Amino acid sequence: MHSVRKITEDLYWVGANDRRLALFENIHPIPRGVSYNSYLLLDKKTVLFDAVDWAVCRQFLENIEFLLNGRELDYIVVNHMEPDHGASLEEILLRYPNAKIISSEKAFLFMRQFGFSIDGRIEQVKEGDTFSFGKHEVTFIAAPMVHWPEVLVTFDKTNGVLFSADAFGSFGALDGKLFDDEVNFDRDWIDDARRYYTNIVGKYGPQVQALLKKAAGIPIKIICPLHGPVWRTNLGYFLDKYDKWSRYEPEEKGVLIVYASMYGNTESAANALAAALVEKGVKNVSVYDVSNTHVSYLISETFRYSHVVLASVTYNLGIYPPMHNYLMDMKALNLQNRTFAIVENGSWACKSGTLMRDFLENQMKKMTVLDEKVTLNSSLKEENLPDVEALADSLIESMKEKK
Ligand code: FEO
Repeated sequence: MHSVRKITEDLYWVGANDRRLALFENIHPIPRGVSYNSYLLLDKKTVLFDAVDWAVCRQFLENIEFLLNGRELDYIVVNHMEPDHGASLEEILLRYPNAKIISSEKAFLFMRQFGFSIDGRIEQVKEGDTFSFGKHEVTFIAAPMVHWPEVLVTFDKTNGVLFSADAFGSFGALDGKLFDDEVNFDRDWIDDARRYYTNIVGKYGPQVQALLKKAAGIPIKIICPLHGPVWRTNLGYFLDKYDKWSRYEPEEKGVLIVYASMYGNTESAANALAAALVEKGVKNVSVYDVSNTHVSYLISETFRYSHVVLASVTYNLGIYPPMHNYLMDMKALNLQNRTFAIVENGSWACKSGTLMRDFLENQMKKMTVLDEKVTLNSSLKEENLPDVEALADSLIESMKEKK
């Protein structure tokens, strides 16, 4: 049975939700599921904008069949061919033998690499090209590395709709509510949207900035992304978040404390520091156990906060492996412009603090590490408390200095 939503007089959402998938890209937990958005334009020509993951293909096909109501499908615009969108393309090509694919040179290369049969079905476009489907004329904008190199975004000059590919997407299934004004985004969606952006597209901040600059020059009324809600009301809110995230600017002044603790002793120091900060007036503090929290959540929170405390036990004369993995992920995603503080622990040969400082200062960009630190020998004791207080004071001073 079909399940579609109307966006404008002749444009429909024909995507589907997956609430069964545990791990997006087989890495990132998605407890709220995910939507794969696709859009069908019923103009003089019929045009499908992107496709969906194979897991939800049945729903997708029923949606398209219902709206076409016996008409042919003329075109499929493929802005992004990664298999979470492209996997159902071949089925569409089989069911609609006259449909042609409009996409970029690189997308066609990738389709062939993935084994798609597309010979005789392609219309290659590049940035600046236009295409008319009847009443609607679209233009294409290159958005390489947002999130793969082949990506285009398509702007419909007739109704101001931007088909934005992965940009402006979010984890989370759509519970019938398609538009940003049908949900409380800042309460219910922003954490998943941040986690999606930072982990999926976070590495490509400069490329997102380039797309934002191009987008600023066109009169966008509606943003139709490939995941999550469609934006038709409060576009400025989300554009501002994307601007901050892609410039690697923190969203909030506050302290994220991530600890790596084997027997609860480093955890005690993390809790003591959090309490000291709150007692001194800093309320925006969050504490996470690196072993118990999927790294995608830690990355998302690290993009959000201005200050980060890494508290780690020494393990095999190195950084505790889950903490090291978190640092490696931060580096891979190109995170920068943060202030760090360090709590280290070791029963003999305490090395974790020196190693974490070295990683932040020499393997990452524009990271500041505060001079004050807390060093524990096995456990937090009365004699360590002045250092905890001093570290809290140093974090607070640093927060005052940062604009
Ligand atoms: Fe939603 Fe880059 O695919």
